[in-house]
Amino acid sequence: MSQAPADSKTENHNPLWSSLVRNLSPYVPGQQTSDPEVIKLNTNESPFGPSPEVAKAISAVLTQEGAALRLYPEPESLKLRGAIATHHGLNEDQVFVGNGSDEVLAHIFAAFFKKDRPLFYPDITYSFYPVYAQLFGINARQIPLNAEFEIDPDAYRAPCDGIILANPNAPTGKLLPLDAIRKILSEHPHATVVIDEAYIDFGGVSAVELLPEFENLVITRTLSKSRALAGLRVGYALAAPSMIEALTRVKNSFNSYPLDRLAQAGAIASFEDEAYFAKRCQQVAGLRDALIVDLERLGFNVLPSAANFVMASHPAGAATLYEQLEQRKILVRHFNKPRLKDFLRITVGTEQNHKSLIEALEQILSELNQQA
Ligand SMILES: Cc1ncc(COP(=O)(O)O)c(C=O)c1O
Repeated sequence: MSQAPADSKTENHNPLWSSLVRNLSPYVPGQQTSDPEVIKLNTNESPFGPSPEVAKAISAVLTQEGAALRLYPEPESLKLRGAIATHHGLNEDQVFVGNGSDEVLAHIFAAFFKKDRPLFYPDITYSFYPVYAQLFGINARQIPLNAEFEIDPDAYRAPCDGIILANPNAPTGKLLPLDAIRKILSEHPHATVVIDEAYIDFGGVSAVELLPEFENLVITRTLSKSRALAGLRVGYALAAPSMIEALTRVKNSFNSYPLDRLAQAGAIASFEDEAYFAKRCQQVAGLRDALIVDLERLGFNVLPSAANFVMASHPAGAATLYEQLEQRKILVRHFNKPRLKDFLRITVGTEQNHKSLIEALEQILSELNQQA
């Protein structure tokens, strides 16, 4: 089940590689597994399926419109952008879509961050940001989270050309209030400020309402978490039309058709079933809050989370608990990095997943106590 880090596969680098490739430290995604017995709480996917309307819409493309697959998809995803715009009360020229928000973020880095002054992001945040900074040769500076693992807006005062913040932050789950985002935007009118809202649907207030005020604001979103469509690869950005135009220029210099016909149809269906979406978001938030109570009862210190995961530390040690859980076929995430090594990141699962997790932890902690 273990996975080698991506950059350890080739010990002797191929001389055909460019120096750029030789020096890359690629992103290492969380483990995937085909073992149905594994309880997978490691990559912040939804424990529930997507709206049943998604499968119906995809089947319709495959059957009624079967012949359509021989044709390229609509390159600008206009209908999907319209559905997203309606959901947010925006116009479709304020929406850009891509193959997962990872791709949208890549285009953002290329379009806005390769400038003279640095790009700022927290020392603890989504680990794709430093990877893109390296890939695109961007001058980036990490700004430490404070002792409470919070983003301190005052620490972002220095001159810069870009700021990217995940809100809620990952992997901490902590939410930055809208006032703090407004302050950062006002203090940096000439920098592009990106708010990555991959997890905002689980309890945060979106920065969408700041869009009319700030032309330098770009918000990214994904269908992978709250819409349970990680397998479909759809993400999007919301911004002023001129900022969307910049992203479209980059897209059309890279891949004109990032979203295939099935992804466009499935994503539209998800946005057309708002009731299902709202119900599932609420359910995940409720499960998260119940999980926090159970973990605290077992002696965990859990950071307040507005996301679909929690960060939790325990005196027994995160590395030990991670290994013991893995032996019991329960996958969580452990980041062996300074400031994070004492924590486990646990994705919210079903009620049954949580029951199994808590029982396993009770057993592990009692065994460790006996050995002590
Ligand atoms: C903060 C953050 N942003 C973006 C992404 C990427 O999501 P997507 O599946 O849309 O590429 C993730 C995925 O885990 C994430 O944690």
